[in-house]
Amino acid sequence: MCSFMFQPTFQSSQKQKRFGCFKTFALRLHSMLHCDYFKAQKMELMLRNQEHFLSKIATNNGHGEDSPYFDGWKAYDSDPYHHTKNPKGVIQMGLAENQLSFDLIQDWIMNNPRASICTAEGADDFKDIAIYQNYHGLPEFRNAIAKFMGKVRGNMATFDPDRIVMSGGATGAHETMVFCLADPGDAFLVPTPYYPGFDRDLRWRTGAQLVPVICDSSNNFTVTRDALEAAYKKAQEAKIKVKGLLITNPSNPLGTILDRETLKSLVRFTNEKNIHLVSDEIYAATVFKSPGFISIAEILEEQDMEGINRDLMHIVYSLSKDMGFPGFRIGILYSYNDAVVSCARKMSSFGLVSTQTQHLIASMLSDDHFVDKFIIQSKHRLAKRHGVFTKGLEQVGIESLESNAGLFFWMDLRRLLSEATVEAEMALWRIIIKEVKLNVSPGSSFHCSEPGWFRVCFANMDDETMRVALRRIKTFVLQTKGGQEASAKKQCRRQSLQVSLSFRRMEDIMMTPHLMMTPHSPICSSPLVRART
Ligand SMILES: Cc1ncc(COP(=O)(O)O)c(C=O)c1O
Repeated sequence: MCSFMFQPTFQSSQKQKRFGCFKTFALRLHSMLHCDYFKAQKMELMLRNQEHFLSKIATNNGHGEDSPYFDGWKAYDSDPYHHTKNPKGVIQMGLAENQLSFDLIQDWIMNNPRASICTAEGADDFKDIAIYQNYHGLPEFRNAIAKFMGKVRGNMATFDPDRIVMSGGATGAHETMVFCLADPGDAFLVPTPYYPGFDRDLRWRTGAQLVPVICDSSNNFTVTRDALEAAYKKAQEAKIKVKGLLITNPSNPLGTILDRETLKSLVRFTNEKNIHLVSDEIYAATVFKSPGFISIAEILEEQDMEGINRDLMHIVYSLSKDMGFPGFRIGILYSYNDAVVSCARKMSSFGLVSTQTQHLIASMLSDDHFVDKFIIQSKHRLAKRHGVFTKGLEQVGIESLESNAGLFFWMDLRRLLSEATVEAEMALWRIIIKEVKLNVSPGSSFHCSEPGWFRVCFANMDDETMRVALRRIKTFVLQTKGGQEASAKKQCRRQSLQVSLSFRRMEDIMMTPHLMMTPHSPICSSPLVRART
């Protein structure tokens, strides 16, 4: 379009002059439209105008993209931090990626070139791997996954390779599970706070609903029987059919694990109501500190669980977090119910893991020596990183929920809110992303019932970036009114912290073009942030 406008079709000098002005204007407009922010807005507008071409199900808003969780990623994408190229950019702390142990994987790949079939050593296997395979998956892949699942659960439970169904990541496994178990309009109970992707994965294409089970900090977000009953009753009153309960153990975003008694009470609850229990255990091997991880599979093998209907029990797993392979899209649906296994297997044609990946993973996970070393090292590195971050924040009076798993922690900034509202949380989030230049995710995007909590991911960056991120948060807190007192008082076991930013200052921030939010960002009613203990 622009090149067309620049064609020199005018002859007279007057016309050429006018054309010159027009050309400058067009060039400016062109460069404006090509800066990321305007590009995104233009694209958004274009898509909105074209939505009537799409199906109702495609446009049902079930994707849940209009959330600060995804807005934060967009803010990072338009201004990503780099040590030398963009040292003032946004640091991504909103992505639960495990990048701390890649060197171990790289070593293994270098030492096992045969496992990657596109190498001189592996080329002999190429043809057998590259042709169509059936959707059950390579037997060696399912065997290796079953063994690995047992290993990361301390060999306290065994897994049957014939019950392993593969999918495109845990994302695909969740959707397949709901497709198998629920009709449109049916619901799953989900304890809060929960992973925002569930809104998309479980609801968008299936038409199912999620009913929150409200948990709060008064008991460290424990999922109680009362909270479950309340959510169940609410659904019944709204004439919504509850088909199951979805738990995440270890929890994203809390980084905590469910203890034995809680797990048993959840199994009993679902069994009594005759609904399904789906346990998302994709962070199983990230538990870096005691108490150890307990899988629902281990609970089912206990004596007092003998009468439990196993047809209602299912596990979702993936190698995205435990091994740090989200790009390989290795998702697993494991069900104790034969009908679910059979239905999910038929569905798996839509999201198979490529046979090259299956082949590579089968070789890697069959190497016991490597796997044992990897699991230990990975936990050790996660523990260290978690410790540096949480302890560093404690020095300036910032607490987080006690946790021992995951690739994140749950930071408590309630004291920095002007008031206990989602609007105040969003105002603080905007300051953190625009001024402190950190993409942490606000609790409201995890459906947290209490404003002021933020999820901070810590394993997707190198040590240097971690130091910069930590320094930025600390500086921010210490610069805030009363921040220094807070950190001093913290050492005396008394805490006090205040943030005060003037309306003008906030306006400046809000109006800085490259800091402006995406069209999805909710605008808070008052940008004045003032927090007290
Ligand atoms: C609890 C939980 N379940 C599922 C997923 C999706 O995982 P995958 O990348 O394997 O699709 C995530 C990703 O962050 C997650 O945190």
